[in-house]
Amino acid sequence: MEKTGGNEKLWGGRFTQTTDELVEKFNASIDVDKRLYASDIEGSIAHLKMMAKKSIITQKEADVLIKGLGKVKTKIENNEIEFSASLEDIHMHIEDALGKVAGDVARKLHTGRSRNDQIALDVRIYLKKESRIIIDLLIGFQKALIKMAKKNLKVIMPGYTHLQRAQPVLFSHHLMAYYEMIKRDIQRFEDCLKRIDVMPLGAAALAGTTYPLDREFTKDVLSFAKVSDNSIDSVSDRDFIMEFISHASICMIHFSRLSEELILWSSSEFSFITISDSFTTGSSIMPQKKNPDVAELVRGKTGRVVGNLMCIFTLMKSLPLAYNKDMQEDKEPLFDTVDTLKICTDVYTRMFENIQINKDRMYEACKQGFLNATDLADYLVSKGLAFRHAHAVAGRAVAYALNQGKELNELSIDEFKELNDLITEDVYAFITIDKMISRRASYGGTSFTNVKQAVDKAMMELGV
Ligand code: ARG
Repeated sequence: MEKTGGNEKLWGGRFTQTTDELVEKFNASIDVDKRLYASDIEGSIAHLKMMAKKSIITQKEADVLIKGLGKVKTKIENNEIEFSASLEDIHMHIEDALGKVAGDVARKLHTGRSRNDQIALDVRIYLKKESRIIIDLLIGFQKALIKMAKKNLKVIMPGYTHLQRAQPVLFSHHLMAYYEMIKRDIQRFEDCLKRIDVMPLGAAALAGTTYPLDREFTKDVLSFAKVSDNSIDSVSDRDFIMEFISHASICMIHFSRLSEELILWSSSEFSFITISDSFTTGSSIMPQKKNPDVAELVRGKTGRVVGNLMCIFTLMKSLPLAYNKDMQEDKEPLFDTVDTLKICTDVYTRMFENIQINKDRMYEACKQGFLNATDLADYLVSKGLAFRHAHAVAGRAVAYALNQGKELNELSIDEFKELNDLITEDVYAFITIDKMISRRASYGGTSFTNVKQAVDKAMMELGV
């Protein structure tokens, strides 16, 4: 095989000195980008098919190389290829391995192509697949949410604002709030897919190529939706990665908020839920401890995904067009984001099967803390008082009851009448927990009928 230069590197022709060992190590990305091997081979096969079609190489050459790439893939999967910093990245490793299985004709693979458009293509192939897997995982989690909501449709818990008990809500309604968040996350990933699904190969280094490529054909072989329109943009664009990690960050923040609630709810102060032993861990010193580590880790891992977002933003800021080696650093934050989001979604889907709802405790918690104060005001409105006045009366009622060490429903009718003579015996029936729920029937509110409809609608949406 033809020597490629003094340095025997694939780009070594113009070099007379060998690369410094430390620089070689520093420059290499193989440890990270080796996971792109399948995408890289898929892209090369499409490129070869296109080149044969356009007679840039012969069909026979293409066949030999395509077969060779198949062998290289198997070798990688059987750990038969040794990765080394001297071959820099996954592209060079594959080309080198192809040379070993197919001979010198392997030197034709890189015709009309640069590693700049090649890496852009590889990441897009990878991220298309991973986005779909993530969407499916998120749908799986939505199903777990719905299952729990359906099973606990009528369970009532205190709803909070400022983490202070506010008004009673259905627990299922609270869960369905997360269903809505995840639904938007999925929509964001689906929308982002439109911009990932663009085929950049053919941009070559940055300016396009002198070979008569058929980019539409390559796009069709690889099942991309469209080809990129501008060669400079094709090799410079990492918006799709920034966008993906943004959406992943939002999704992780949703998981983190859920984590915070699960952690609070499983504390003895709340005791709203019990997480099964298989999804909790103990303490090496305190024998009584059962810790919600899974939820804490999901909350913690949100930090690294948001960190990855800062990483890619900072990396891209101020980069002149077109390709810059800085962009090689885009893969670690991307891969870490994909891995983190996948495992967090998976672990939560499974954990949901392992959470027991302590409905009596939730209901009890609704009895204390004047959760019916708004409804006392609403009661007075129903008797003809303007809401602001009614609010003031209910406020005085709370202050009075607090002083007496009572809840509002524990006040006698005489005490009520003292506060406002519009109040009659029917007040007690008006401010029960169940009535407070059923009256909140405005669209999107927590009434049982509403929530049942929302759960049914979600089941239709997911086809369950
Ligand atoms: N390993 C490189 C990356 O991940 C591939 C592109 C290298 N291009 C170049 N001209 N050095 O970005």
